[in-house]
Amino acid sequence: MKTVALRRMTGRGSILMLLGALAGCSASAPEVDTSKPRDEGIRFSNVQVLVTEGEAAYKRHCLGCHGATGDGKGPAARMLSPKPRNFQLAHFKFSSTRSGQLPTDADLKRTIRTGLRGSAMPGFAALSDRTQDALVAYIKTFAPAKWSENPPAAPIPIVEDPYRSLVDKTPAIQRGEVVYHGYVTCWSCHPAYVAESRINEHLVACGGEARSGFRANLSGVEAKLNVEGQMLYPTDFKRDFVRAGMSVEDLYRTISAGLTGTAMPTWVDVMHVPAKTAGAAPLVQPSDLWAMAYYVQDLISQRPQKLADGAFTPRDRPQWISLTGEPPPKPPEAPSAPEEFIEEP
Ligand code: HEC
Ligand code: HEC
Repeated sequence: MKTVALRRMTGRGSILMLLGALAGCSASAPEVDTSKPRDEGIRFSNVQVLVTEGEAAYKRHCLGCHGATGDGKGPAARMLSPKPRNFQLAHFKFSSTRSGQLPTDADLKRTIRTGLRGSAMPGFAALSDRTQDALVAYIKTFAPAKWSENPPAAPIPIVEDPYRSLVDKTPAIQRGEVVYHGYVTCWSCHPAYVAESRINEHLVACGGEARSGFRANLSGVEAKLNVEGQMLYPTDFKRDFVRAGMSVEDLYRTISAGLTGTAMPTWVDVMHVPAKTAGAAPLVQPSDLWAMAYYVQDLISQRPQKLADGAFTPRDRPQWISLTGEPPPKPPEAPSAPEEFIEEP
């Protein structure tokens, strides 16, 4: 597998791309000295070493779920929902890039480091920084053509958070409720959290029109297929975990960028509705993405610490909630096999 992958990557363009990608993925990597010609021979062998290290770590920690060929069909995959990612197709959901685009190395590393809460994907923070970089390099070798033809796109813009300095975030949460229901109609897939009459007020406030009818089961979720034909359940924020992080920064990224391969679209480019009267504030503007992030975080904070026995959501299982990303002081249930994920010296 490795030899094939490496041989396919020896095109000049792909080497440069891979090098570029690798240079960007480690905070401790030395700065490139552009005053001298590059020694590609030495640099390539560095990549080769990294990929080889990544392969060893992958076989030890990832193969059981993601499979020997990276197709997401490891021995454990049969029992899992959602299914482990198929690295050959490279539809990565959680990224700072727009839906449909490849993630950055930092995105992949974040997923590997923190895991995806509410799915089987564990966090591998116990692995060294270098091993995490090596894993990023290695999982790309499962789809060499995709990575060389589509260099990772630029991350979405992060507009200034107008609510950051507020101690009491109520204005952000209230504004988020309006935009969530009134403009981007998140409730066409996720639940609505207010009554229909209030949704209509919010629709009008965002420059739209009130509706006479809404979908059935408006306070529940609309299950959606992903591009690989698997059923996904949009998050019910008061019951389910969000996988890619619960800090407002994480939620801003998820909501703005969307999730590749799923029904969840990119919103960052459509947050503009001009005022109806000259001189008034716009009805919808990019900073409203922050308001939605605060609103969704507030919904998450209303989730019970642990759901009652038997009250499992279709999407995930009861676990510890952390809004800032700090590790749980005492996990309610120990993960099934944490020792397996500790790296050997
Ligand atoms: C116990 C099973 C399991 C193991 C072990 C596991 N994963 Fe995963 N992984 C998953 C599942 C399940 C998903 C999909 C979660 C989802 O779709 O929300 C996933 C998703 C991913 C993703 C995709 C995230 C995205 O943006 O779409 C990456 C990258 C990943 N895993 C890397 C790894 C690496 C690297 C290892 C080994 C260090 C590993 N995984 C070990 C189950 C596992
Ligand atoms: C067309 C359907 C659709 C719309 C509209 C939609 N989403 Fe989603 N969203 C989804 C699906 C499907 C998932 C779950 C994907 C999964 O489980 O892999 C999701 C997941 C999410 C997640 C969780 C990601 C994670 O880390 O687990 C957040 C947060 C989210 N959506 C916010 C929003 C917000 C806010 C809006 C409105 C701006 C919105 N969504 C509109 C379909 C949609």
